[in-house]
Amino acid sequence: MQILTHLLCIALCLYLFLVSTNGTQLILVNNCRRSIWPGILGNTGKMTPNDGGFHMRSGDEVVFDVPKKWSGRIWARQNCHFNKTGQGSCDTGDCNGRLKCRGLGGKPPVTVVEMTLGTSTSPLHFYDVSLVDGFNVPVSMRPVGGGAGCGVAECDVDLNICCPSALEVKVDGKVVGCKSACLATQSAKYCCTGKFADPKTCKPTIFAHLFKAICPKAYSYAFDESSSLNRCRATRYVIIFCPPK
Ligand SMILES: *[C@@H]1O[C@H](CO)[C@@H](O)[C@H](O)[C@H]1NC(C)=O
Repeated sequence: MQILTHLLCIALCLYLFLVSTNGTQLILVNNCRRSIWPGILGNTGKMTPNDGGFHMRSGDEVVFDVPKKWSGRIWARQNCHFNKTGQGSCDTGDCNGRLKCRGLGGKPPVTVVEMTLGTSTSPLHFYDVSLVDGFNVPVSMRPVGGGAGCGVAECDVDLNICCPSALEVKVDGKVVGCKSACLATQSAKYCCTGKFADPKTCKPTIFAHLFKAICPKAYSYAFDESSSLNRCRATRYVIIFCPPK
């Protein structure tokens, strides 16, 4: 009897330990026909899982945990070539030529999955797919198992196909990325910076409207309506590159 009580106590302690320390599980899936090299950047003061970069073949799945209140961004790099020391380059999303991005972001244009998995004032998770830095690969993020109010953040259409020619980024004649108006012009007006750093003065451009029409569940410019920001509380999320339509 005493042993049983002890066992129960140990089980309870273990359970409480797991509940209090568990973070969030992220499942990355490469549903693209070709390899991708995801890049991960933890926000300031946050850890970076898997050294911030790795290779995924078509069909691969990678699972990792991030701690409570983690925030950061994940993006895909394409057509990378790295040597044995993990140095080289990618056609899109390159992080200074490194396989392991460790603290570096990806070179735009790049589709970015952004998330804040709880803060000191709220346990809610916020996540979105952003086209503010342009587009390279379709991507989606959704909670596993769903949940009340938990939406899907996604841009599931290949915007490279319908990219206005002025915004195209080409490699060997093939469009690999589509710049946002901000990226293409580097102007305060389109980037919502300086005197335009206000939703009243910074309006979506015709290109942001185009992005929004094709990918309504993604952020298309800095002050896009908050409907593209999802709020949720789940233990697992799946991020699919080239999600099925
Ligand atoms: C890998 O590439 C980097 C940068 O191009 C180069 O400096 C380095 O010597 C290369 N290492 C190997 C082992 O080839």
